[in-house]
Amino acid sequence: MQGSANLNVMIKAARKAGRSLTKDFREVENLQVSMKGAGDFVSRADIAAEKIIREELMEARPTYGWLAEEGGEAEGKDPTRRWIVDPLDGTTNFLHGLPHWAVSIALEHKGEIVAGVVFDPAKDEMFFAEKGAGAWMNESRLRVSGRNKMIESIFATGLPFGGRSDLPETLKELAKLMPACAGVRRWGSAALDLAYVAAGRYDGYWERRLNAWDLAAGLLIVREAGGLAEPLRVGKHILEDGEILCANEAIFDQFSKAVRSA
Ligand code: IPD
Ligand code: CA
Ligand code: CA
Repeated sequence: MQGSANLNVMIKAARKAGRSLTKDFREVENLQVSMKGAGDFVSRADIAAEKIIREELMEARPTYGWLAEEGGEAEGKDPTRRWIVDPLDGTTNFLHGLPHWAVSIALEHKGEIVAGVVFDPAKDEMFFAEKGAGAWMNESRLRVSGRNKMIESIFATGLPFGGRSDLPETLKELAKLMPACAGVRRWGSAALDLAYVAAGRYDGYWERRLNAWDLAAGLLIVREAGGLAEPLRVGKHILEDGEILCANEAIFDQFSKAVRSA
């Protein structure tokens, strides 16, 4: 697909950060790590990757605003556009030597996500989408799965870690869903969970207590691949409230009923 100039800038930044992360991943035991909260880590690799992305994006588009996990928020001269960045989604996997983590970069324009990139360097899978132009992985067009039976479907979620208070509701949802479907996965990267729904690898995904940088790029990729996405609780906002329920169109109602009635 012939992407816009902005998309090309995003892909270039994601690849450059991916090279730095891949190098750090090979020597992960030497990385400096600190804990931001219970079970919530940040390493030198996260910070180095974010710096690379910021430099790349700011050099190409100096007037855009910025929101990123490690470096906070900055309004740009152009108040209508901002980058939303998670330099390393799946830090816990990364620090355990598990090759399932990604760079996530989204571009927001007037409150709407118009481009998104989720790059998995370990598998060399570049997921991307632009509003109205479809979703892609490397050279292939993405399409959500067509499964319409719960018992044949696989769903992904995020399980609360480090004593988080939302464990009871997650357990209720799992108790409702697990007997009714072909399996539930917890792979540890929200950005890749979304990309995998877009690719038809999972049939649906739900999670709460996320941040805009976990969701922004993947959300557009899911929607552009034909998936449906809503906030978990009716009346909330996916990016502002950090919660999502998404699936292919054929299974969405059955899946959302099961999760929401738990
Ligand atoms: C985390 C991952 C994980 C999700 C966590 C996120 P991080 O992001 O997306 O899948 O369950 O809630 O915080 O901290 O690795 O960037
Ligand atoms: Ca994240
Ligand atoms: Ca992160």
